[in-house]
Amino acid sequence: MASSFLYFLFLSLALHFFVSASSAEATFEPDAFTLPIKKDNATLQYTTTIKIGANASSINVAIDIGGQLLWFDCDIGYNSSAFHYIQCGTAECDVEGAAVYCKICFPLPNLPPCPLATCGIDHYNPFITGTGSITGTGSSGDLAKDTLTINSTNVRGKRKRDKVPINVPLFSFSCVPSKDIKGLASGALGIIGLGNTPTSLPMQLFSMFNISQEFSMCLPSTSQTTGNILIGSGNKTTLYRDLLITTPILINPVSEYPFPDSLPSFDYFIGVTSINVNGQNVSFNSSLLSFDNEEGVGGTKISTATPYTILHTDIYNPFLDKFVKSATTLKIERVASVSPFGACFNSKTIHRIGEELHVPTINLVLQNNTVYWRIYGHNSMVRVKKGVMCLAFMDGGSNLRTSIVIGGHQLENNFLEFNLASSELRFSSSLFTKNRSCSHMGGYYLN
Ligand SMILES: *[C@@H]1O[C@H](CO)[C@@H](O)[C@H](O)[C@H]1NC(C)=O
Ligand SMILES: *[C@@H]1O[C@H](CO)[C@@H](O)[C@H](O)[C@H]1NC(C)=O
Ligand SMILES: *[C@@H]1O[C@H](CO)[C@@H](O)[C@H](O)[C@H]1NC(C)=O
Ligand SMILES: *[C@@H]1O[C@H](CO)[C@@H](O)[C@H](O)[C@H]1NC(C)=O
Ligand SMILES: *[C@@H]1O[C@H](CO)[C@@H](O)[C@H](O)[C@H]1NC(C)=O
Ligand SMILES: *[C@@H]1O[C@H](CO)[C@@H](O)[C@H](O)[C@H]1NC(C)=O
Ligand SMILES: *[C@@H]1O[C@H](CO)[C@@H](O)[C@H](O)[C@H]1NC(C)=O
Ligand SMILES: *[C@@H]1O[C@H](CO)[C@@H](O)[C@H](O)[C@H]1NC(C)=O
Ligand SMILES: *[C@@H]1O[C@H](CO)[C@@H](O)[C@H](O)[C@H]1NC(C)=O
Ligand SMILES: *[C@@H]1O[C@H](CO)[C@@H](O)[C@H](O)[C@H]1NC(C)=O
Repeated sequence: MASSFLYFLFLSLALHFFVSASSAEATFEPDAFTLPIKKDNATLQYTTTIKIGANASSINVAIDIGGQLLWFDCDIGYNSSAFHYIQCGTAECDVEGAAVYCKICFPLPNLPPCPLATCGIDHYNPFITGTGSITGTGSSGDLAKDTLTINSTNVRGKRKRDKVPINVPLFSFSCVPSKDIKGLASGALGIIGLGNTPTSLPMQLFSMFNISQEFSMCLPSTSQTTGNILIGSGNKTTLYRDLLITTPILINPVSEYPFPDSLPSFDYFIGVTSINVNGQNVSFNSSLLSFDNEEGVGGTKISTATPYTILHTDIYNPFLDKFVKSATTLKIERVASVSPFGACFNSKTIHRIGEELHVPTINLVLQNNTVYWRIYGHNSMVRVKKGVMCLAFMDGGSNLRTSIVIGGHQLENNFLEFNLASSELRFSSSLFTKNRSCSHMGGYYLN
């Protein structure tokens, strides 16, 4: 008894010293990390710039919210003394939640020589088709580690708006051959994954820093404005907190990618239970809205790899009908469709209420029929040419794996916060209707 008491005392003292030491150091600890988001107006992709290597080389990458990890073409003259390949068969190659294997690596002139066998990992590029659905085009990459330099925010002891670059040693990513970098915005050399898996950017940072396990994303709607990713909680004002509506993040147990041993999906799914247009239910077979646990087919996910929301044909058709009928009652005139959209309208017949377009409101109804993701005109309509605006949704056909893929246009200027500790998504609906936009978020939500 006495000895266990002493042991307890010793532990308490040790803990006390540990806490004191870490709180002294805490002055230098970040509470969030941030990356800017740009929109590429040719491909409509969202990109960011990461800095990697001993010399912090800048690399532009497309953002894939459901992506597994960072991967890019390393053959770009980047030279880093901190770079190393991961050798197959080592503990570092035992990556949780990933299908890895032994392979021969692609030697690159500026980087250290390859080990005899490197740790390989497959990638699937969701941008190739531009539809967010996978056509099976994979690529084999070499796992590596290097120092990532990323801006942190709200470092205690610093002024609140200061961004402080922090070096993150031993950050994992993958090098892929140049020929496999396809379908990306001009200047982008790869893809950064923010998915729900241990190798994604947010998850690696959560495991290395004492930050809260959440990240937020706000996509800009033009190439002239900048959006923001914030990893960690940062110091968001209650202004933004108060706007947010909560819904669970669902894990689809089956990835859409043809991994040899099936892995869970890295995507963020949400539980849409019905769709209505101005309160009128869109009727379709609701079994499309849940994914089956054997195949992972069905359900609703969030994607930055498709510019517009894609719907399964059996949802798209009744949805389009309902929208067109509802628009007609507002005396909005339908005109010839412009591909890839199924319903287009004469802009002159679309009126405005304040800054917002007066078109039927689309509601994605979430749990309990009480939670609505409201989609107003700026997110539902897209101007395609002078005088013509179209309903910015696409028909994904009847083989679409995920029945609703919520795409970029519908996400723009919507503040999304993914809390991975509680598996909840908090979303704002359009900030625009609140006289805000994602570019107001550039100051880390402190304005
Ligand atoms: C993209 O935006 C820039 C800057 O506004 C403009 O100069 C350029 O023409 C645009 N490109 C396309 C393809 O729209
Ligand atoms: C980093 O950059 C400096 C100056 O440009 C150069 O002298 C040095 O060789 C570079 N180091 C590496 C590892 O690339
Ligand atoms: C890469 O950096 C190392 C160390 O700074 C230097 O010795 C080497 O010459 C550099 N290689 C190239 C191709 O720049
Ligand atoms: C940090 O932010 C500043 C200002 O936006 C930018 O100039 C700098 O390149 C960023 N640093 C990193 C490491 O991204
Ligand atoms: C992590 O951060 C929380 C909140 O700031 C703090 O209470 C906790 O003591 C920290 N843990 C460590 C191990 O530093
Ligand atoms: C967070 O922001 C508020 C309001 O701007 C400020 O009073 C507070 O000190 C900030 N907290 C930290 C930890 O920076
Ligand atoms: C609305 O439509 C969904 C999908 O077709 C259906 O499951 C639900 O029962 C409908 N709700 C009402 C109130 O009609
Ligand atoms: C809805 O779809 C499921 C799966 O395809 C099918 O089993 C079911 O019979 C359909 N229900 C109706 C009412 O059509
Ligand atoms: C949905 O209903 C359940 C059971 O009544 C409740 O626990 C849950 O909090 C509700 N969720 C929302 C978002 O209202
Ligand atoms: C938005 O701003 C405009 C002018 O800047 C103002 O007239 C309007 O009332 C504001 N709307 C809201 C919801 O704050």
